Amino acid sequence: MRQVARIAPSILAADFARLGAEVATVEPYVDWLHVDVMDGHFVPNLSLGIPVIASLAKVTDLPLDCHMMTTNPHAYLGALRDAGAWQVTVHIEAYPDPTAVAARTREEGLCFGLVLNPPTPVEALVPYVELCDTVLVMSVNPGFGGQRFLDATLAKVEVLRKSIDSGGLTTDIEIDGGIGPATAKRARDAGADVFVAGTSIFGADDPVAAIAELRRAIDDRR
Ligand code: DX5
Ligand code: ZN
Repeated sequence: MRQVARIAPSILAADFARLGAEVATVEPYVDWLHVDVMDGHFVPNLSLGIPVIASLAKVTDLPLDCHMMTTNPHAYLGALRDAGAWQVTVHIEAYPDPTAVAARTREEGLCFGLVLNPPTPVEALVPYVELCDTVLVMSVNPGFGGQRFLDATLAKVEVLRKSIDSGGLTTDIEIDGGIGPATAKRARDAGADVFVAGTSIFGADDPVAAIAELRRAIDDRR
């Protein structure tokens, strides 16, 4: 069953010198806060880590959805929990068999998700959907904001939607990369539940208006 559509702004596109204020601006209008952790190894970029997550948890009640673009996120599960993370998503490319990392994440009291990169076939993830609160389909290659949405990823959303529905599961399908009103609408039609948006929200002159436009695009009541 398709879940209510939710919006998760990605702080990667925010002004880090004003992070608290940026989050406060969007907080009343969104559902999760998407936090991109990069290690310069799993992806060719660096972003932020545990201290920033801990600071964020002190200033927001939004669930912190931590997208780990790192080689060994299992080493940081306790620290993520202590910092105030809510959900940790790890890449299937880092854990071809994610059974153990899923169990360890849950033991820490965290929600667990698996992420799929554009070149990775969806079949790599399908056998593990039932381990997940969330499956995250990357609609750009990870590492950088502001990239163009890759159309071919919509077919993966469709496959996951069928798999989740036929299994009677409640796993959320999250989509990340190049999301604005037009791409979000297409991803919603394909079956996505949670929409990560960095540039289209924090890069907008009026982030609140940008969120409203995104919300209209994915609103099922239209
Ligand atoms: C990319 C990150 C994304 C990124 C999305 O590696 O996982 O969350 O911030 O940025 P936009 O919305 O600008 O494509
Ligand atoms: Zn992300």
